[in-house]
Amino acid sequence: MNQVQFKQKHLLGLAELSKEEIELILSTAVPMKQIFTRSVKKVPVLRGKTVVNLFYEPSTRTRTSFEIAAKRLSADVINVTPSTSSISKGESLVDTAKTLEAMNSDIIVVRHKASGAPHFLARRASSPIINGGDGFHEHPSQALLDLFTIKEKKGDIKDLKIAIVGDILHSRVSRSDIIGIHKLGGEVRVVGPPTLIPKDIEKLGCSVYHRLEDALEGIDVIYCLRIQTERQTHKLFPSVTEYTRLYAINEARLKLAKKDAIVMHPGPMNRGIELSADVAYSDRSTITEQVTNGIAIRMAIFFLLLGGGRSVQEITD
Ligand code: CP
Repeated sequence: MNQVQFKQKHLLGLAELSKEEIELILSTAVPMKQIFTRSVKKVPVLRGKTVVNLFYEPSTRTRTSFEIAAKRLSADVINVTPSTSSISKGESLVDTAKTLEAMNSDIIVVRHKASGAPHFLARRASSPIINGGDGFHEHPSQALLDLFTIKEKKGDIKDLKIAIVGDILHSRVSRSDIIGIHKLGGEVRVVGPPTLIPKDIEKLGCSVYHRLEDALEGIDVIYCLRIQTERQTHKLFPSVTEYTRLYAINEARLKLAKKDAIVMHPGPMNRGIELSADVAYSDRSTITEQVTNGIAIRMAIFFLLLGGGRSVQEITD
C-alpha cells in the first residue's frame, strides 16, 4: 500500500510536484494499465463526473488520450474547441471556464499557447485544472508518461543518462522532462544548435552540448524533439537539410549511445528530419508505447485528483 497522499488540487507542472508525488502518479498508473487487458476496459470509479477538454491549440495524442482515460474511468467527456465555441466570438479563458463550471463540470484539462494560462485559470476557477501543455513552459502529463515508459524499459530512472535532442527552446515537453528526470535522480544532457537552446537552461541542472556525437556517449535514453516551425518567428538554423545532417537520430548515431539505449519522441514527429524512419519504427523506439502509456498516466491523474482519496486497490481488484 502506498503511504503518500496526493494533496494537490491541480496538475499544473512537474515543478509543483514532489519526488514522492511523481512516484505516486507513476505507481498508480501501473494498475490502471492492467485495466487495458480486461475484456471490458472500464471501471466505474468516476461515474457521474464530467471532464472538459478545453484545447486552444491543436492536439491528437493529448486530447484523445485524456478523453479515453476519462471514459475508461466511466466519466463523461466534453470537448470544447475554439473554432466552434464562443471563444471565436472573443469569450475569455476565465469566462469560458466559469460557463463550463456552471454546467457542473468537475475538472478542466486546458492547453493554451500562453505559458502560465493553466496557472492563471487555477487561481480563478473553482474546479481542478490539468495543464495539457502551456506555451513553452510545461507539459506535465507528457513528462509523466515519458517517466513511466523509461521506468518500464529501464527499471529505475536514478543514475540513467538521458540526452534530449533538438528544439529545446520551444519545447514544454523538454522542460517538464528535465524537471521530472532530475527529481527522480537521472542526468540530462540537452543537445542542439545554440539558437535552439534557451539561455540559462543549465539552471535546471542539465549540461549543454552542441555536437550530437559528444552528447550520445554513454547515453541510456535518446529523447528526440520535433522542430516546432510554427513557433519560430524567424529562421533559427540555415536549413532543415543542415539540421538533419547534424542532429537527426539515425542508425549510425544510435550506435554511439549504449547498446541497449532506447529512442523516445513525444510526437508528432517530422519523420526523416529529427528521426530516421528506420529508427522510428525499430524495436529500440518506444514511440507507440509512450502513446499507450499516456492513457494509463492520465487515468492515474484523474483518479488522484477526483477519486476522493480512495485506494487504487479498491477500484482495480
Ligand atoms: N505529444 C503531444 O502533446 O502531442 P499532441 O500535440 O498530438 O497532443
